[in-house]
Amino acid sequence: MSASTEDDKKRASSSRDVNAPSDAAFGGRILVDESAVFEQNAWDHATWGEEQIQHAKNEIARQQLNPVPEELVETYHAEAAENWNKFYAKNENKFFKDRHWIRIEFPELFQMIEADAGKKTVMEIGCGAGNTMFPLLIESKNPNLFVYACDFSSTAVDVVKNNPEYDPKRGQAFVWDLAGDDIPPEVEPESMDVLVLIFVLSALHPDKWEQAMKNLYKLLKPGGLIVFRDYGRYDMAQLRFKKNRLLSDNFYVRGDGTRVYFFESDEIVQLFGSRFTIEQNAVDRRLIVNRLRKVKMYRVWLQGKFRKPLEGQAPGTPSATTVVTDDSTAEGGEADEN
Ligand SMILES: C[S@@+](CC[C@H](N)C(=O)[O-])C[C@H]1O[C@@H](n2cnc3c(N)ncnc32)[C@H](O)[C@@H]1O
Repeated sequence: MSASTEDDKKRASSSRDVNAPSDAAFGGRILVDESAVFEQNAWDHATWGEEQIQHAKNEIARQQLNPVPEELVETYHAEAAENWNKFYAKNENKFFKDRHWIRIEFPELFQMIEADAGKKTVMEIGCGAGNTMFPLLIESKNPNLFVYACDFSSTAVDVVKNNPEYDPKRGQAFVWDLAGDDIPPEVEPESMDVLVLIFVLSALHPDKWEQAMKNLYKLLKPGGLIVFRDYGRYDMAQLRFKKNRLLSDNFYVRGDGTRVYFFESDEIVQLFGSRFTIEQNAVDRRLIVNRLRKVKMYRVWLQGKFRKPLEGQAPGTPSATTVVTDDSTAEGGEADEN
C-alpha cells in the first residue's frame, strides 16, 4: 500500500464486535460506492460476497491438495523456536514498529501509564522486538509501572535488551514458552494487571493452546485483562500460501520456517470463554488498497479483550456490545503487515 502520512492515519477503531447488530453504526471508512475504492488507502468492515467466500474456500482446497510432506511436519514443529531466532537474527531491530493502532484499540493498556494509575504490571508475551513494551515505557508517566516482555526466541529477547530504551529498573525481558509447563520463575502467580497477546497465539501449535490458557490464567490478577489481536480466517496472508505450506487445518509454515494459524471468532470464544469474561470479541475486516498498483487486499484480524473474573465469580457470557467508535473524519489507514 502507499505510504501513509500523518494526515492519513487511522483515528478510530476498525474492530467490530461479532455480536453487534448488522445495522449498528460503525467505523469511519465504509465503502459505499465501489467505484471510489481507489480513493483511500483502507476501508473498514469490508463486506464479503458469496463469490469471495467461495474463492477463499477454493484456495484452501487447493492448499489441501499439497500439504507439507508428512516427513517434514514434525521437523517444522521441533524447530519453531530456532526458526524464530533466525528470523530475528536476520531482521534484527528492523522488526520494531511503533504501532499507532494499539492506542486506539487498547486504551486499557495506556491507562496503565497514567501518572496516578498506581502500581501496575504489564506483560507482553511473544514480545518480538518489544512493539508494545517500548511505546508503553517511553510514554509512561507512571513511576510505578513495570513491564515484562518475554518470547521463546532468545534472539528476540536480545533484540529487546539491546534497545536503548530498555531499562532494567522499569522492565525485564526473558525467554519463556507461553505453552510451557508453568509460568516463568521471574514472576509471581496472579501478579499481572494486563497481558498483551498480539500476533502470538497464532504461532502456537493448536495442541498447545490449552496449556497456554492455563498459564495466562495463572499469570493474571483476578480482575486483570488480556488484550488480544491475531490473524483471522481467510486473511489475505492465509489465502496466498502456495504448495507444501499447510501443516494442519488453517495452520501453515512460512518460507522462513515460522508457523501461523488463522482463527475463527468461535474458536476464540471456546478458548478464552471457559476461564475469562469476554469483554470484546471483534473482527477487523479491512480492505487495504494499493492506489498506485490498483491492488485490493482483504485483511482479516481478530481482536479480543478477556477479563479474569474476581475471586469466587464465574466467567461472564460474551458481551454483545460494540466497542467501535465512529469518527467520520478518519481517512486512510495503517496496515499492519505482520
Ligand atoms: C508474529 S511474531 C509477533 C511479535 C510481536 N508480538 C509483535 O506483534 O510484533 C510472533 C512472536 O511469538 C513468538 N513465539 C512463538 N511461539 C511462542 C511461544 N510458544 N512462546 C512465546 N513466544 C512465542 C515468536 O518468537 C515471535 O516473536
